Amino acid sequence: MEAALKIAPGVMLWRERLDRAAQKALLDAVLGAAEFYRPVMPGSGAPFSVEETNFGPLGWYSDRDGYRYTATHPKTGAPWPAIPTALLALWDATTGYGAPPQCCLVNLYRAGARMGLHQDRDEQAADAPVLSVSLGDDALFRIGGATRRGPTQSLKLSSGDVLSFGGPARLAFHGIDRIVPGTSTLVPGGGRINLTLRRVTK
Ligand code: SIN
Ligand code: MN
Repeated sequence: MEAALKIAPGVMLWRERLDRAAQKALLDAVLGAAEFYRPVMPGSGAPFSVEETNFGPLGWYSDRDGYRYTATHPKTGAPWPAIPTALLALWDATTGYGAPPQCCLVNLYRAGARMGLHQDRDEQAADAPVLSVSLGDDALFRIGGATRRGPTQSLKLSSGDVLSFGGPARLAFHGIDRIVPGTSTLVPGGGRINLTLRRVTK
């Protein structure tokens, strides 16, 4: 494991924090968990290019009525599965935050999927960082400041990389410009999976 890189104030990156066996174990947990669905944008109903699911007591969800946290899967009505213990341990080891994450959003990017610049701002626990794990194909991740306009920087995130943003970067705009198909053999059918851990309530 390499030492953490400080990307910007509040933004930390651990390259290859998870080895291949740990990546595979997480992938298996994802594929054995709740089924993916394709969210739509509030208002317009335009479909996301990513598919999503969640682990944890609170799942992040978007539909025509807006963004929100829900305790149950929108299609099946079942509670989301528990956050894998390896992710809880990773949260403790990297964030040092005094309470566990309540949401693990799972994003599945097949070739051509992307995510526009946005802020994670549906959480009350603004003092907790956001922790993000990358699995599978490389992605070009963009992160800027707390305003939409303004300088951004681009980082390549590869399988096993772990990124956190908190403190002065907690409301940083961020997104995925594109993935780079064929750069990993981890995800069956190709693509990238992102796991985003967040504390929601105070
Ligand atoms: C997100 O911001 O929800 C996802 C970021 C990523 O895929 O790395
Ligand atoms: Mn986000």
